[in-house]
Amino acid sequence: MIKLHDKYFKPFISAKEIDDVIQRLAIEIAEDVGDEIPVFVGILNGSFMVVSDFVKKYPKPCEVTFIKLASYEGVKSTEDIQRLIGLTQDLTGRTVVILEDIIDTGNTLAEVHRIFENEKVKSLKIATLFYKPEAYKKDYKLHYVGIEIPNKFIVGFGLDYSGLGRNLPEIYQIKETQHMTNLVLFGPPGAGKGTQADFLKEKYNLVHISTGDVFRYNIKNETALGMLAKSYMDKGELVPDQVTIDMLNAEVEKNAGAKGFIFDGFPRTNAQAESLDKLMDSKDSQIDAMIALEVDDEILVERLLSRGKTSGRVDDADESIIRNRIAEYYDKTAILKDFYSAQNKYFGVDGVGSIEEITVRLSSVIDEL
Ligand code: IMP
Ligand code: MG
Repeated sequence: MIKLHDKYFKPFISAKEIDDVIQRLAIEIAEDVGDEIPVFVGILNGSFMVVSDFVKKYPKPCEVTFIKLASYEGVKSTEDIQRLIGLTQDLTGRTVVILEDIIDTGNTLAEVHRIFENEKVKSLKIATLFYKPEAYKKDYKLHYVGIEIPNKFIVGFGLDYSGLGRNLPEIYQIKETQHMTNLVLFGPPGAGKGTQADFLKEKYNLVHISTGDVFRYNIKNETALGMLAKSYMDKGELVPDQVTIDMLNAEVEKNAGAKGFIFDGFPRTNAQAESLDKLMDSKDSQIDAMIALEVDDEILVERLLSRGKTSGRVDDADESIIRNRIAEYYDKTAILKDFYSAQNKYFGVDGVGSIEEITVRLSSVIDEL
């Protein structure tokens, strides 16, 4: 992923794919042109890379020239096309092929046709590397189209966003949802996860999704997913991952404008971690980090026993039950630690100290992401 000015873009079309397409266009056009010496007319600025690569692949003699038009402001095409440099040579009787980087609304193309209206060229053909059929509003024939793409803003390979991105050798597409910071928060029982999650969600404007809470909410409110989950639980079966993912998806969608999410209690397995990656990917986003609070077993036991004295939670009163819960936590999370470490996304944070000290440590991890 890359950031240009205020916007984020994700990889979309590789340099190799672009190269293959330009090769194909060059052959196709050379065959059609036959023995004529064509004049290729690039439309500046965007087309400089296509033209350069195209003519290197063109297998026969040809001429190259440019006209310079400007229509785009930011990420929107405008009707108002400025003619910055017009035709500088007589093209009477010539076979002309316009080389465009991209055809979007077709406004620029309309201007090109106006420019050629009074030129007595032998033929005028239009070739474009990229074409957005959903955006095209004109009737001019496009003789050669490299790749049809959806109506989303792209940058790279000559195309810019307010001046930036032209130099990129591959194409990036704008991200639908802008950047989110998504965390998976882990910690053994007694590590202070809840306290820290509350703090992080305030400080970074994140939405805390506790899987336990989401389940309880859906079951209590008898949502379709809640009822489905309950039907498995009533039979003593595990709720299938897809049901949980669907619930999490609903939570993510409820908070569409969020700056990010803290996932708590999910994932627990590799398969779940992969599903969560897919879910974030479908939102044009990603899990940025698994943050695990690390606290020594003896300290956890001590903390939980003293909590048990005041909270009355039975599972906090018995030392062997506590030790079991801690051991189970390490059993289950070891795999996930490997999963996220492999992507350089695992961050262990020392969970011993005052609440403030720990929040400072967590913040420094998040600030670095
Ligand atoms: P049209 O006039 O709307 O067809 O747009 C043509 C011109 O707008 C192109 O030559 C580009 O300079 C620019 N353009 C169109 N779509 C994009 C895009 O997705 N990214 C960057 N520039 C674009
Ligand atoms: Mg252009």
